[in-house]
Amino acid sequence: MTDAELLARADAIAEKAYAPYSNFHVGVAVLARDGNVFEGVNVENGAYPLGVCAEKNAISTAITQGYRPGDFEALAVNASPCGGCRQWLAEMGIDRVIFRNRGEILTMPPAALLPESFDLAD
Ligand code: THU
Repeated sequence: MTDAELLARADAIAEKAYAPYSNFHVGVAVLARDGNVFEGVNVENGAYPLGVCAEKNAISTAITQGYRPGDFEALAVNASPCGGCRQWLAEMGIDRVIFRNRGEILTMPPAALLPESFDLAD
């Protein structure tokens, strides 16, 4: 799967977002090294802080299937990942993140998205 195809999957699944409060529909597709793809969308809640980002839902789905940090090649998202999600991306050791930001498509490793990130080992 190419990065463009992975981003197309993220764009398509964004339609399934449950975002009645922000109306900001986010979709994610994460590619595991074995070729499997897991998708996620943001799920909001009337108690606003309880909403969950699309990145967390996609990664959690893969983790539930037995995948672990280091098992992921790429993650595509139709928005720029929020600060909290950048910490999740760093933990998962994803090679590259493909995302849309202000009309541009950008590709960077988690370390570029979150320099000097928190790590329990430090
Ligand atoms: N959102 C995500 O799903 N991922 C991000 O990285 C950025 C923000 C969601 C959270 C909320 O449902 C909506 O976008 C507006 O912030």
